[in-house]
Amino acid sequence: MTPSSRRRFLADLGQAGAVLATSSWLEAIGYAQAARGPARALIQQPRVRGDFDRRVLGAFLEHLGRAVYTGVYQPGSPLADKNGFRTDVVREVKELAVPIIRYPGGNFVSGYNWLDGVGPKAQRPTVLERAWNSIETNQFGTNDFVDWCRMVGAEPLLGMNFGTGSAEMAVAYVEYCNLDRGSKWSDLRRSHGYEKPHNVRYWCLGNEMDGPWQIGQMQSREYGRKARDAARQMRVVDPGLQLIACGSSSTGMPQYLIWDREVLEECYDQVDGLSLHAYYGNTQALTANSTARYLAMNLDMDRQIREIAAVCDYVQGLRKSSKRLWLSFDEWNVWYRARGGDAVNGRRQFAPKLLEEVYNLEDALLVGGFVNTLLRNAERVRVACLAQLVNVIAPLVTNDTGVLRQSTFFPYAWALRYARGRVLDLRVESDTYPISAAGLQAEFARNDQVPFVDAVATLDSQSGQACVLMLNRDLDGERELALEWRDVTPTRVLACETLTGPDLKAFNTFEQPRRVAPQRLDAPAAGARMSFKLPPRSYTVAQLATTT
Ligand code: AHR
Repeated sequence: MTPSSRRRFLADLGQAGAVLATSSWLEAIGYAQAARGPARALIQQPRVRGDFDRRVLGAFLEHLGRAVYTGVYQPGSPLADKNGFRTDVVREVKELAVPIIRYPGGNFVSGYNWLDGVGPKAQRPTVLERAWNSIETNQFGTNDFVDWCRMVGAEPLLGMNFGTGSAEMAVAYVEYCNLDRGSKWSDLRRSHGYEKPHNVRYWCLGNEMDGPWQIGQMQSREYGRKARDAARQMRVVDPGLQLIACGSSSTGMPQYLIWDREVLEECYDQVDGLSLHAYYGNTQALTANSTARYLAMNLDMDRQIREIAAVCDYVQGLRKSSKRLWLSFDEWNVWYRARGGDAVNGRRQFAPKLLEEVYNLEDALLVGGFVNTLLRNAERVRVACLAQLVNVIAPLVTNDTGVLRQSTFFPYAWALRYARGRVLDLRVESDTYPISAAGLQAEFARNDQVPFVDAVATLDSQSGQACVLMLNRDLDGERELALEWRDVTPTRVLACETLTGPDLKAFNTFEQPRRVAPQRLDAPAAGARMSFKLPPRSYTVAQLATTT
């Protein structure tokens, strides 16, 4: 290397390091700061962030509280079908078209014996479930879940017990589900009435194994070695598996990033993805109870994705591996109210009311922000699961007579309905507002500038349809977003809806189910330049036909 190219190399290296460590959120997500006035986004069709795997809009169903029992399964209810499945919930989930659903936990999985939940129902044991201190009857288990998934059109993502469970039983689980016939576990499945294998492709190797709350918590290297050993055996049973190792349970963990590096140093060659989890809230410690800071929290998610991806790439380099890991953000949501005391302790009840978070308008706007973050990182994040789906920190809530859509249902449903094809690499310029680190918990303490407008777009070259999802974080004022299209031109606005309202704390109830609900928004005329007027504190979707 000549001295001048070496200098350039070091300067570039320094710049890359600086971008990762200290850059503002704006730069990191490809945004630029604009003077006061309309935000602008340049859309150039060849500039794509990546193909968009719909698995990034998955969900999560845990044996926890009323998620399974009375959420999806309630034999005897007038709303249940012959299998005991709630038909109203099936209808909602089917209409949502959730692509993949993670099951059976969560913390639950670390004490779960999957054998208890298969075979004749009358012979399944009732057990004391120790993650949530509840009674588990095992009347709903793996085969029931797979049946239910086929009914709603979702792919199962199964979790394995790495807490009390052995590698042997985890491998047996794969054999039970995926091997055709002629072996102990595959023949057991056949004897349970399931001739054809379930062919479950995506599996989680345990759950949050770094957490002191986790049954069977482990040290990073111990877990990494167990994951490697189990994964190697599983691949003998089924070479087509996609295996996800447990990453850090949150950015607040003392070993955050170190855990991830050490786990991957042990099992990199045997796994395909690494999990990320995050829950957010508008609290004194996390946001100083400031909605402006709260609505910027999807940028904390962007940052977590960048940091974890950097660790994966670091270990890839160490291992000199040609394999690049993808990320599985398999638990994310707002969760801060129903988080202690009776809300997390089942007190040895069957289907107790646990984690029943009531979501308001500001939560829904932030969930829209999370959807934007996941989409713009779709090149790296292949799987993600809204945690959870029904009753437990969920967009859907059941009672004896029906199902309610919480506020957070809508941004999630829009992405599922309209986002298709590839995620475009928008160049957004937006006016910003400052946030301050003062007094906040370390992982959320940021002095930074937050763009008022957060936007993502997808384009499906087959149908020619584009989708634009727009968050306006301005609590008081309308914001304009001027879209400039190159190489592809919108020809018609097919849909344009917004979620907004005067009261950020408004929420839906069975009595008032539409206090927070989508409204039609006047869209600009379709064309190469389109200026959306985004209401204050709103999340908006536009579906467009284009010339593609
Ligand atoms: O989703 C609720 C719980 O949050 C899950 O069981 C656990 O994995 C996480 O801590």
